[in-house]
Amino acid sequence: MKMTEPKLIVHGGAWNIPDKYDKAHLNGVQAAIEAIYPKLQSGMTALDAVEGAVNMLEEDPTFDSGRGAFLNEIGEIELDAMIMDGQNLDFGAVAAVQNLLNPVSLARKVMENTEHTMLVGKGAMIFAKKMGFKELSPEALLTDRELKFFHKIKNDPSFRSELPFEFNPMDTVGAVAMDEKGNIAAATSTGGTARKLQGRVGDSPIVGGGAYADNQTGAVSATGWGESIMKVVLSKTVCDLFKTNNSLKAAQTGITILKNRVNGMGGVIGINNRGDYAFAYNTPKMAFAFVNEQAAIEAHIKYQF
Ligand code: GLY
Repeated sequence: MKMTEPKLIVHGGAWNIPDKYDKAHLNGVQAAIEAIYPKLQSGMTALDAVEGAVNMLEEDPTFDSGRGAFLNEIGEIELDAMIMDGQNLDFGAVAAVQNLLNPVSLARKVMENTEHTMLVGKGAMIFAKKMGFKELSPEALLTDRELKFFHKIKNDPSFRSELPFEFNPMDTVGAVAMDEKGNIAAATSTGGTARKLQGRVGDSPIVGGGAYADNQTGAVSATGWGESIMKVVLSKTVCDLFKTNNSLKAAQTGITILKNRVNGMGGVIGINNRGDYAFAYNTPKMAFAFVNEQAAIEAHIKYQF
């Protein structure tokens, strides 16, 4: 029996997206909603919806996740992802995995097929093979855009990953869904920051940092500079704020805490346990899309609050 109208919101990163990339970002987040929302309406679970939406964004070379991810200091791609089920607080996460198109699906396998919650690096790749994931060639995830960017910043002593939201892509992707039974889930996937040290792990696979989901409060996916997002446990912070604030105010307060407490930059999307959307960011732009009250898809990159 349908108890609630399903909700779905996705993001494709918060940073100073150059105007020339606006269209690709808007198309990417809109396509994820168009493909997944009808399935949610037909009874898909929130967990399947966030995995499906994030898979689409991982496969879209526009974004820093899966195909199109940043290169690290030695020119390799290392990916982080997590998924969380608000019914029981189960989550799965992977970090520093390589040559996989859909790390969020591996995170789900960790959640459902192991007694653990997080696998990293070599061990995660051994598990991926056991689970039948296809290990791609490094070139399969590499885009010309990122190869050029890597060579541009490789030997630039002024480059710092945390400074350049002016210039640096932070296209982490994420999704939050509420299904017709009222269950909530969140997922986040990223290639991390440009020229990161090998083995660097950001907020995206850290529970409460890059995502959080709890049917009792709501669910959130975060994007932005991971080192600061982790310090304020941004996704969990916004979920806690859902208890005493309306959804938009909770998201805005979370971003204010990120800025005021640790000088961080980024954005969040979410859904509270009443099914209200939340979104906020302090970067110049954030690409995101959702299905509004009139059942129409809204895609935004520079929202007028
Ligand atoms: N927010 C993505 C990262 O910092 O890795």
